[in-house]
Amino acid sequence: MGTKTALVTGSNRGIGFEIARQLGKQGVTVLMTARDKDKGVKAMKDLKDEGLDVHFYELDITSDSSIKHLYSEVYKDFHKLDILINNAGIFIDQDFTVLELDRETLSKTMETNTYGPLYLTQALISLLKNSEDGRVINVSSGLGSGNSIGESHPAYSLSKAALNIVTIQLADALRDKGIKVNAMCPGWVKTAMGGEGAMRSVTDGADTAVWLSLGDVTTTGKFYRDRKEIDW
Ligand SMILES: NC(=O)c1ccc[n+]([C@@H]2O[C@H](COP(=O)([O-])OP(=O)(O)OC[C@H]3O[C@@H](n4cnc5c(N)ncnc54)[C@H](OP(=O)(O)O)[C@@H]3O)[C@@H](O)[C@H]2O)c1
Repeated sequence: MGTKTALVTGSNRGIGFEIARQLGKQGVTVLMTARDKDKGVKAMKDLKDEGLDVHFYELDITSDSSIKHLYSEVYKDFHKLDILINNAGIFIDQDFTVLELDRETLSKTMETNTYGPLYLTQALISLLKNSEDGRVINVSSGLGSGNSIGESHPAYSLSKAALNIVTIQLADALRDKGIKVNAMCPGWVKTAMGGEGAMRSVTDGADTAVWLSLGDVTTTGKFYRDRKEIDW
């Protein structure tokens, strides 16, 4: 098999940037994406300076036209995709309980964290089918897991629980096409989202997504943290 190609959403910073770096270091051609072109190009240049084979594409995962445009550009340039990492996400309801959650916050969170990964995966299926070992990795969160859901950050928890269900549904639909779809939780990671109090580095936070991308993984429709399967 030739060089693998991976697309990482929200890879201008945080865990997505580190996933792009770790994949690039393992010889993967990485298609970095960001909704802000300037930030994305800068991130791409930073990894190019490290000698990695990285490319930049603009992508807002909440926009159908942006997803459509991305598909046509990647089709034109590469014809196939081996790995899709749905990493981009938002966490805008840290201070809300479920009793204060408003429609706009919930809609925006679901559009970004759940519908974006679903519609992007649908759009890129034909490219993943051209791979001998297509893999989709959804960056989810333990805050969407059954036994840690409570009244706090309701939109985020709902969006990640729903992303977990999307993972199972896509895995089932793509099983006979040989495309594996798994979800992972990076742990509590020191990024703009995770904050300064977080205990984990981006290096550790990115590790399981990279392992699910390139490792000897045969499962599909499962949820992982630290390279181990965990409960939904
Ligand atoms: N950090 C943690 O402790 C933690 C824990 C569990 C799960 N996670 C998950 O890990 C993933 C990455 O988180 P992070 O900590 O690296 O967060 P981050 O530093 O806030 O980065 C989020 C990334 O998503 C991008 N993004 C947001 N909305 C987007 C959209 N509509 N279209 C395209 N890109 C968009 C951001 O772009 P801009 O720069 O343009 O805003 C940024 O690149 C998220 O899915 C998050 O839920 C994180």
